[in-house]
Amino acid sequence: MLKDLFIGLSQNQLLNKAAQKYGLKLGAQTVVAGTNIEETIKSIRELNAHGIACTIDNLGEFVYKKEEATEAKEKIIEVIEAIHDNHVDAHISLKPTQLGLDIDYDFCFNNLEEIVERANRYDIFINIDMEDHNHLQPSFDILDDLSKRYDNVGTVIQAYFFNSEENIKKYKDFRLRIVKGAYKEPAEVAYQTKKDIDANFIKLIEWHLLNGKFASIATHDHHIINHVKRFVKESNIPNDKFEFQMLYGFRKDLQLQLASEGYNFCTYVPFGKDWYGYFMRRLAERPQNLNLVVKQAFNK
Ligand code: FDA
Repeated sequence: MLKDLFIGLSQNQLLNKAAQKYGLKLGAQTVVAGTNIEETIKSIRELNAHGIACTIDNLGEFVYKKEEATEAKEKIIEVIEAIHDNHVDAHISLKPTQLGLDIDYDFCFNNLEEIVERANRYDIFINIDMEDHNHLQPSFDILDDLSKRYDNVGTVIQAYFFNSEENIKKYKDFRLRIVKGAYKEPAEVAYQTKKDIDANFIKLIEWHLLNGKFASIATHDHHIINHVKRFVKESNIPNDKFEFQMLYGFRKDLQLQLASEGYNFCTYVPFGKDWYGYFMRRLAERPQNLNLVVKQAFNK
């Protein structure tokens, strides 16, 4: 029930616009690193000091105007330059709908290519985040086209999709982030229960660890993390074949612990004015995250 409510709210354009106007509110500042690049670089330096790498997300999605998509592209290129200039250990995560996928495929592709080309100059990796099932195939098409010319791109496999196993096999030679999946998907295309999603998540992780190039295991679920720790030990998989990833602001102690135990760790660092949809999805995933909101409300 709450999940549906927050997913519905995350897609509300009017509330999204209002949120952009009023800055980080409702507790979002706990899980969003800042509204500008300078604040974000500062947060990244702090994480890097603990041996934690970062993937930076200039927040924004479901853009329907070309000017907004172009603005997003320019901002991401600025972030790439900032990573390079500041020598921080970071790469980029981006969403195709922010760069115009709902407007026109070629327009979106050209925006992405410009970003990937710039990042390639500095050997910076670009991760294409995966969104809902309507955008799944076109996002893979973009990856297919980009990877003909560039090797600094990868993407995400969402374990709730029935076709995730097929896709992980197809893209095994890419750097892949494996997640459970964050959107509300219909029963025709995706597993619906936690039990089924978790079982498929573990199956995909194990397969990719054994057969793939590099796995970013992105989860806050300590059951999965403990399973992975046991599995890599038993299967003699070296630490340089994978990393753990978590979102900025979540389970900070566990993030630091995993990094100090010698695992590669990468924090997903969202920043920018367009925080509303991202924040609502985090509330949908785990209504206990509302605690963050309440704490912030009393912490003024
Ligand atoms: P889940 O929410 O299923 O929680 C399982 C258990 O873990 C809980 O019952 C609890 O015991 C424990 N737990 C979880 N969070 C906790 C907390 N904050 N504190 C204490 N215990 C906690 N999705 C997508 O569709 N496309 C994408 O591109 C991405 N990208 C992405 C990047 C990164 C770095 C992450 C971490 C996640 C994504 N996701 C994503 C989101 C992902 O699909 C998924 O929705 C969320 O990570 C929530 O699922 P979890 O696996 O984290 O655990």
